[in-house]
Amino acid sequence: MHEELDTVALDIEEETGIATLTLNRPDALNAMNGQMRTDIEASLAVLEEHDGEHEGVAVRAVVIEGSGDRAFCAGADITGFSGVSPAAFDAHSMRDSVIEFPAPVIVKIQGYCLGGGLELALACDVRIASEDSRLGFPEIDLGLIPGAGGVQYVTRLAGPAFAKELAMTGEHVTAERAAEEGLLNHVYSAEDLDDEVEDFVETVAGKPPLAIRAIKDSGNIAVETDLREGRKYDRRVFSTLLGTEDHEEGARAFAEDDYEPEFAGK
Ligand code: COA
Repeated sequence: MHEELDTVALDIEEETGIATLTLNRPDALNAMNGQMRTDIEASLAVLEEHDGEHEGVAVRAVVIEGSGDRAFCAGADITGFSGVSPAAFDAHSMRDSVIEFPAPVIVKIQGYCLGGGLELALACDVRIASEDSRLGFPEIDLGLIPGAGGVQYVTRLAGPAFAKELAMTGEHVTAERAAEEGLLNHVYSAEDLDDEVEDFVETVAGKPPLAIRAIKDSGNIAVETDLREGRKYDRRVFSTLLGTEDHEEGARAFAEDDYEPEFAGK
């Protein structure tokens, strides 16, 4: 399935359940305007409803990428910044739709990943970048802070010192530094990026979907609540997963050498 929204292109591979959402304003380095925020939310809503009409496979993983090779996203669209109400820039709802999406969302970063683009990347479950990527929070030079929790999330991933440095200086850091600080899962050459992301996404998309979702939720709960709450969730969901067909399927594949498991998400 292929669908074009104003600022986002949406593709679903029916056979694997892998979806790709491409930010599609390359002439503006995929800068995020209100329409793009709306389109991202709308795309994720379409994907959440998608029930694999051809092969019976629902969406198992989503890749978010930027079109062109210069930028994943150069942040909020700063043309027409002045005199607009704060609500017009509110990216929290869009970020929440990524965080709450019931399958892994992997961001492929090539080139600039700035401001609201970095905040979108931080909402994703896994971040994979090319080594020529540059990440940063330039909002300070506009007298602003990252508006969708950027300092909060970088603090949780990398610690307050790096979060404050990034937001206070507005400087772009290399992918290598961002990975050292814990912001990126993997960094590859620009040449290898597509293949590496594809391998990663295929691996995750082939795993038991209910357990994958539980891991995503558990990780989110770990960020948002305390250890007691998190352990309560893990205990509950673990006993639920013990009763699933996917668990039986995995156990069978472990016991029988030549058995190729197929996880139906049941
Ligand atoms: N909003 C709107 N347009 C943007 C944009 C943004 N955040 N970032 C880049 N663009 C546009 C530029 O205006 C330019 O458009 P034009 O060709 O019509 O003039 C085009 O994208 C290319 O950008 P340009 O600045 O010419 O490229 P560059 O290689 O010289 O610099 C950046 C790249 C990313 C360093 C620079 O564009 C930049 O600093 N952008 C703003 C980043 C920012 O502050 N984002 C956070 C806002 S809170």
